[in-house]
Amino acid sequence: MTYPPSQIVVCPGPKDAFFKVCLTIMGQSSLRNRLVTFAPVYESYQNIPVLLTGQPPILLPTDRHFLPDPKQLEDLLRRDQTIALIVLNSPNNPSGAVYPLGLIQEMAGIIGQHPEVGIISDEVYRTILYDDHQHESIATYLPGQTFVLGGMSKEISGTGFRLGFVAGPETISQTIAIVEGNVSSCVNLPTQKGYAHFLPQDANLQL
Ligand SMILES: Cc1ncc(COP(=O)(O)O)c(C=O)c1O
Repeated sequence: MTYPPSQIVVCPGPKDAFFKVCLTIMGQSSLRNRLVTFAPVYESYQNIPVLLTGQPPILLPTDRHFLPDPKQLEDLLRRDQTIALIVLNSPNNPSGAVYPLGLIQEMAGIIGQHPEVGIISDEVYRTILYDDHQHESIATYLPGQTFVLGGMSKEISGTGFRLGFVAGPETISQTIAIVEGNVSSCVNLPTQKGYAHFLPQDANLQL
């Protein structure tokens, strides 16, 4: 996927970007304020919804390969009108599961029926793939609903040089940019300069 600058918000790390997407979309007073994701889950996905809304995420189970069951998600979306965000994380932390193309397409077909629900597609581990796994993004199918999350910590092992990004639909991305501007202002200048120098030298990176 390629995005124009108006659809990208750069933040001090992917975790920070995740928080700002949630803050923008999951208003405490909104009737739609629940986040759904799949067990086992990266710790911050457990904690950030609680910090923002007082409610934990809804955790759907996965199978023995740590893959979600799209039918369970379909049932949930049909009966629960409080869902604001679905978080997909592939390649996954902590399980290592990589969602195959067919699964991504099936989930896109289901979530696409609910245009009022957003998706955070956490793709921070997209460059860390083993065997024959391919990275697929649900943003390819649902660009108007998906916020892709990425960052330098995993992409190029720049853990301490905090820089992450979220790319998604323009209107909400502009609101996330306002949150970013009011909370962090920007990623610190030495980190920006460092990546601006380093990234163009790595021909294998397709950012
Ligand atoms: C799945 C996942 N998403 C996001 C993050 C956040 O990355 P960072 O700590 O660089 O903000 C992590 C960190 O371990 C992670 O495992």
